[in-house]
Amino acid sequence: MFEGGLFVGLDIGATKVCTAIGEYDTRGNLRIAGLGVLPVGGTRKGTIVNIDSTGAAVLECIERTEQEAGRTVEDLYVSLPAANLEGINSRGVVAVSAKNKEVSTHDIERVLDVARAIVVPMDREIIHSLPQHYSLDNQDGVPDPLNMIGVRLGAEVHVITAPIATTQNIISCVNRSGYMLNEIVMDTWASSFAVLTDDERENGVLYIDMGGDTTDWIIVKNGALWHSGSLPVGGNLVTNDISCVLKTPTEAAENIKREVGCCYHGMIEKDEGVIVPGVANLPPQTVFVREICDILEARMREVFSLIKKDAELSRFLPRLRGGAVISGGGALLNGTSELAAHILDLPVRIGFPLRPGDLKREYINPAYATALGLVQYGHMFGGGSERMPEKVGARVSKPVQGIMDWFKEFF
Ligand SMILES: Nc1ncnc2c1ncn2[C@@H]1O[C@H](COP(=O)(O)OP(=O)(O)OP(=O)(O)O)[C@@H](O)[C@H]1O
Ligand SMILES: [Mg+2]
Repeated sequence: MFEGGLFVGLDIGATKVCTAIGEYDTRGNLRIAGLGVLPVGGTRKGTIVNIDSTGAAVLECIERTEQEAGRTVEDLYVSLPAANLEGINSRGVVAVSAKNKEVSTHDIERVLDVARAIVVPMDREIIHSLPQHYSLDNQDGVPDPLNMIGVRLGAEVHVITAPIATTQNIISCVNRSGYMLNEIVMDTWASSFAVLTDDERENGVLYIDMGGDTTDWIIVKNGALWHSGSLPVGGNLVTNDISCVLKTPTEAAENIKREVGCCYHGMIEKDEGVIVPGVANLPPQTVFVREICDILEARMREVFSLIKKDAELSRFLPRLRGGAVISGGGALLNGTSELAAHILDLPVRIGFPLRPGDLKREYINPAYATALGLVQYGHMFGGGSERMPEKVGARVSKPVQGIMDWFKEFF
């Protein structure tokens, strides 16, 4: 772990580009020096659609954040949308090499190499191989086998692959903005570091990120990633439902959703009428809050039911003592945690970024969890800019490098 320095997270989402600049002191305390949001959609269903315009948005967003933070950025941790990723659990076994049968770091590296040696289709690449736990002879569930005595060392890892085209497009975007890419990180895994408590990570938690275009989820237990999933349904489709059913423009539908929308009938206290503008020349109409709830609940119920089905298949659902946590802008819809708790049959909370403790009020938004989580991921698992804080000046740009480093992220 690096003691100090700047760590920068860049999240290219379907509805916004978001950058967080975090500064760690030598005691490991984090201060978010700046957080910038540009309401420009950079991806569609997890894929970058226009390299030039997204590259320009990335550049503008980072420059704004640099101004706010009074810092110059060089290298970035960038989110990779979970939508097109695939995760599998894999295992490997090696013989402990030392004569005295003490497990060395070399043995651990070897067994992880074996565990992540899976067949990857030509158009995909491994972006994460995250250790889950080890076994030593007949002892399972060993968190850290270093220096223990045994003959047969086993490891289980969660391997995540991504389409090469998806990662290359992200690299191109960052490249065009002139910054160096440190590492690409699956967005749900990154944001989990800003949102989940250590207790939740240990006891088992279903972590859901409901964004604009997609809803993604992971299961974390004993600090490790065990399962991931994704649906091409997010908050934008919920808005679209309102727009279609009530025949109102998208912008009006978005406002209605945010201001009076609720997706759980049990939460509605007063069934008031709401004036809904008509499309084109159609006159406005009065619609009751319960009718709006019917539309919202139908879509949200579908999303959580599908997540439950998937989590049940993973066999982890009954073992999640940490319940479920929902982040992403879509989680801000009223009634989300209540509906999710009802369907998933788990305790549910909304995942507002928790760390660092002194986070500015305006940064505490589940939509910013990915950018903030990338900063923390960078500090925990990666390298960072070791430059001292300085005022914004001429930026030094470097070519994108270190892509092969993605393969090295063991912790
Ligand atoms: N107050 C609110 N109430 C209801 N929905 C909201 C609210 N604020 C934001 N949203 C919804 O959150 C969604 C955007 O969330 P977020 O910013 O996490 O998406 P994104 O990261 O850009 O997208 P993705 O993760 O799919 O790439 C939009 O659909 C928006 O309507
Ligand atoms: Mg997102």
